[in-house]
Amino acid sequence: MHIVYMGAGFVGACSAAVSADSGHKVLAFDIDAERVRKLSSLDKSTIESCLHEDGLAELIIKHQSRLVFTHDVGLLTDMLEHAEAVFMCLPTPEREDGSSDLTYFTKATEMLGAILVKRNGGAQSQRVLIINKSTVPIDTIDLSKRILEPMGVKNFGIASNPEFLVEGKAVHDSIHPERVIVGAETPEDFATMRRIYQRFVDSSTVQYLEMNPYEAATVKLLSNAALFARLAFTFSTVGRICEAIPNLNYENVRRGIIGDSRIGRWGFYDSLFAGGSCLIKDAESISWQLETHGARADFMRSVLAANRDQIMHFLSRAKTEAGFSFEGKSVALLGLAFKQDTNDMRHSGAIHVLEHVLESGAASVRAWDPAAMDVCRTLFPKDKGRNSVINYSGSAEEAIKGADCVIIATDWPQFRTLGDTILEHAARPCLVMDGRRMIESQYRQLAAAGMSVIAVGSPLYVPG
Ligand SMILES: NC(=O)c1ccc[n+]([C@@H]2O[C@H](COP(=O)([O-])OP(=O)(O)OC[C@H]3O[C@@H](n4cnc5c(N)ncnc54)[C@H](O)[C@@H]3O)[C@@H](O)[C@H]2O)c1
Repeated sequence: MHIVYMGAGFVGACSAAVSADSGHKVLAFDIDAERVRKLSSLDKSTIESCLHEDGLAELIIKHQSRLVFTHDVGLLTDMLEHAEAVFMCLPTPEREDGSSDLTYFTKATEMLGAILVKRNGGAQSQRVLIINKSTVPIDTIDLSKRILEPMGVKNFGIASNPEFLVEGKAVHDSIHPERVIVGAETPEDFATMRRIYQRFVDSSTVQYLEMNPYEAATVKLLSNAALFARLAFTFSTVGRICEAIPNLNYENVRRGIIGDSRIGRWGFYDSLFAGGSCLIKDAESISWQLETHGARADFMRSVLAANRDQIMHFLSRAKTEAGFSFEGKSVALLGLAFKQDTNDMRHSGAIHVLEHVLESGAASVRAWDPAAMDVCRTLFPKDKGRNSVINYSGSAEEAIKGADCVIIATDWPQFRTLGDTILEHAARPCLVMDGRRMIESQYRQLAAAGMSVIAVGSPLYVPG
């Protein structure tokens, strides 16, 4: 099949590559020329500098004969002559009021409509299915029709096929999904979706679930809400209990809880913040949709509040528990990405940490991350006022050398060994703040070496 992806970000690029892997002829269109240049480079490190996703570069290079990334509208127009399906993979960020900003989505749909109306010499004989992969408000299918129909676009269907990939494992998850949710309106459109996803329809390990497009969009939003609620419970209750009440070891409590199969394992690692591109935005969107439909959103609002409270609580512990002020201090920040195995910093806890220590007057901040340094340089350019104290280090060791405070913000597996580096290179006295419990086996050792340790899920370890 000929398939178009509108938007070549985490979702669009990974889905396009997996689609090419399924044997389809794929064109991924993006308005970001630099992104297209990198994704088209056929060079692993250049591709990864744009999207750090395990296995993505290999797949793009392997399927170069049937996978094109472009920002050329001419190539998009040519492909739309034959395309049977167009996946919409556009950003849908939250607005101040929590509603979804559908500007990117609307603009891309208008652009698509202007091309589709002229396809096949204006006859529009090729039926095309426009499939929404972006996470959107439940009634967005109506918006797509409201844009396309007045433009004169004919012979099209609209479907919803939300994405469940986990960043860092996006390619693996797209090739081996647990479930594929397909929302469509006609037997013809369900049949098109089955041809696109034949490998999953035929798989005994994938749940291939068909429903209407409103339900499909709802499943995505509510799945993220359930995951976010679990994390908020972990931070605000499990972690907080272990911080506040003596004689509780977080790991023992966690293991005991997840031993119950009804509860399950996922989401019981304590953390300074739940970030990323989706959870916060989707919880805001659900709350907004509930309230605009006259329903109450107290639960989702409290989940959002618990997450905000967690980062403020973590950072304020420096002062309230260890009596430490960031003013004039040298701070090492380990981890910038919102989680391991990605360079994505959207809503990353590290952003809040950086803003807090800069506002508090830190003399220097040395930052290090295995993948997200370039992204952070863009977000915190050194030539902008207070950002001048940020230095991007060449290694964790370089960042930690002589630091008065070391903060761990991301759960990169290689950070498990940071305890030794801190013992060897940090200043004395030093405050260690572990926002991920990465070095929990060494908290006592660090304290014995004269350091104060604040970790999510533990009371303060005092030096000595
Ligand atoms: N990232 C995730 O883990 C994830 C998971 C599931 C669902 N989603 C949802 O998928 C959607 C996309 O997310 P993402 O993480 O891939 O975003 P992203 O920001 O990484 O990528 C979006 C891309 O769309 C491009 N774009 C913007 N306007 C365009 C236009 N008019 N035409 C063509 N391209 C355009 C941007 O340049 C960008 O490259 C969002 O709605 C998100 O909520 C994301």
